[in-house]
Amino acid sequence: MTAPVLVRTRAELSEALSAARAAGDVIGFVPTMGALHDGHASLMRVARERVGRGPVVVSVFVNPLQFGAGEDLDRYPRTLEADLELCAREGVDVVFAPTVEEVYPGGEPEVRLEPGPKASLLEGRSRPGHFAGMLVVVAKLFGLVRPDVAVFGQKDYQQLVLVRRMVTDLCLGVEVVGAPTLREPDGLAMSSRNRYLDEEQRIEATVLHRALLAAQQEAQYGVAVALDAARAELRTAKTVDLDYLEVTTPDLDPLPVDSPAGTQARILVAARLGATRLIDNLPLTLGVGRAVAAATPAGGGER
Ligand code: PAF
Repeated sequence: MTAPVLVRTRAELSEALSAARAAGDVIGFVPTMGALHDGHASLMRVARERVGRGPVVVSVFVNPLQFGAGEDLDRYPRTLEADLELCAREGVDVVFAPTVEEVYPGGEPEVRLEPGPKASLLEGRSRPGHFAGMLVVVAKLFGLVRPDVAVFGQKDYQQLVLVRRMVTDLCLGVEVVGAPTLREPDGLAMSSRNRYLDEEQRIEATVLHRALLAAQQEAQYGVAVALDAARAELRTAKTVDLDYLEVTTPDLDPLPVDSPAGTQARILVAARLGATRLIDNLPLTLGVGRAVAAATPAGGGER
């Protein structure tokens, strides 16, 4: 197990990657906010598979721009030592852990990105400005690391869709890979925020995955039935405060009301357990087209 090179500045990052660039190696990148867990490790493994002998770079940076007022920026876990150990176990070559000043040397950037209409749906409704701030830092990190391949988790599905869209719309020339969500044995999607949950909340949190599975199972009968099944499951958890439960196309567009059987869709959920907000999602394959029309007149679901 070789420790990754820890770099703190842009100059050190550039130096750490210069040999690989000169050799024309494929560079893989996993952007993170640290507090790494097995879910992140799986993204690193996907990156490794894609780059072969090329370097895998992991960034560890809690990006203030993507946290709204009253969100958990200050209490977001910072665990660099443990993060470095996990990166070492996964054979990561370079860990880029810059300060806020290193990423935003002139203070908050004047030039921003307009993330488009999909940023105001779902997470965007509860977290205004979140995706604009997230895309700015991802664009900056892409500019610094200049990866060939970047791996994002499907757990943050809306983030993945928006990053893909940014890369396409702005011709950033990075291949974006969406890696499957890793789950705890009881189904809870792995997340750095799970550590905020107390014992009771941790048990109740598993309802999110159960609700999505119930929807997946009932999707053969259409969206209305699938959503009903998910809602029924969610009602079994007393401390879970539902933010949204929605079915969209895989690109987060409204599902056409006449979607035929076999249509691929995505079900996405967010809920609060105390002060902790959790999200999850799964793919759906719809069975009965006519039931879609009955279920989603506005192309969405429910809040
Ligand atoms: O998913 C995350 O951890 C963050 O949103 C990201 C992509 C590292 C940008 O800060």
